[in-house]
Amino acid sequence: MRYVVTGAAGFVGSHLSDALLAGGDEVVAVDCLTDYYDPAEKEENALGLDLVRLDLADADLDLDGVDGVFHLAGQPGVRSFGDAFPLYVRRNVIATQRVLESASRAGVRVVFASSSSIYGNAERYPTPEDARPQPISPYGITKLACEHLVRAYGVDAVTLRYFTVYGPRQRPDMLFRRVCDALRDGTTFEVYGSGAQSRSFTEVGDAVAATIAAMKEAPAGALYNVGGGDEASVVEAIALLERVSGRSLDVRRVDPARGDVARTKADVTRIRDELGWSPRVPLADGLPRMWSWASARVAAR
Ligand SMILES: NC(=O)c1ccc[n+]([C@@H]2O[C@H](COP(=O)([O-])OP(=O)(O)OC[C@H]3O[C@@H](n4cnc5c(N)ncnc54)[C@H](O)[C@@H]3O)[C@@H](O)[C@H]2O)c1
Repeated sequence: MRYVVTGAAGFVGSHLSDALLAGGDEVVAVDCLTDYYDPAEKEENALGLDLVRLDLADADLDLDGVDGVFHLAGQPGVRSFGDAFPLYVRRNVIATQRVLESASRAGVRVVFASSSSIYGNAERYPTPEDARPQPISPYGITKLACEHLVRAYGVDAVTLRYFTVYGPRQRPDMLFRRVCDALRDGTTFEVYGSGAQSRSFTEVGDAVAATIAAMKEAPAGALYNVGGGDEASVVEAIALLERVSGRSLDVRRVDPARGDVARTKADVTRIRDELGWSPRVPLADGLPRMWSWASARVAAR
């Protein structure tokens, strides 16, 4: 099969593209290498891909001969208040609307990467897909708007709500990556608030497996949580990485970050029942892989 992967030079999109190629599929890898973090990292992620540089907020996708679109391009990160907001609107809402226009004309399936951020401080834990969306970050609000667009366009689409994905190539603004970098470089790590906030951490290989299953097996219109089985607080995650790395982290507490939810905990019953997917990689296996990638980056410099 021939698939477009948008955001193919990003963290999750590059792993997805590699997995599709390894499974014998063809990949049209689309990304415009935004400068949200160092584009050189994205170029590294995309080594081995034939990258089509396209800004989806102002260009159409050519879907001739394409069997499906994995739409992962977007502006992530919950620190989306203030001047950053127009970028979130452009790279999430406007880009997604254009992708949906193209998909609807071509009649191809879209798998859309949404986020657990749409739940905000969720009504209940573990959180099932029918919990009321109540995002507390502008980022989460743009992702929820994209979900509504997917529904409004009525295209053959599957929406995935990823819960904090981690692993090699993780974005430099994300928790595990920031902890690994600080452990590696011996720099001070800032914990927002008490550090008691916790997440359902999802290993990237697990997230990719769910994403491919969504394209190939899910019924049209499906909506799934994609969340890891292990929940850990920021403090617990730091302790785990200290153990894995054999180093200790210099921690400084700073004010809680606006838009940061207190907890995420995915209920993955629906995707398990319908697609047979459940998270396989526990933190105890995923974190050593993450650390060896992050520490090897130093050697490569
Ligand atoms: N990583 C997570 O834990 C997580 C959790 C929930 C949802 N998501 C969503 O999954 C997707 C992938 O996340 P990620 O962590 O890999 O992020 P990422 O920033 O590493 O990747 C996104 C990629 O999209 C590209 N992009 C942005 N706007 C674009 C545009 N207008 N045209 C073309 N390319 C554009 C960027 O250059 C980047 O390479 C995002 O949509 C994100 O919101 C990620």
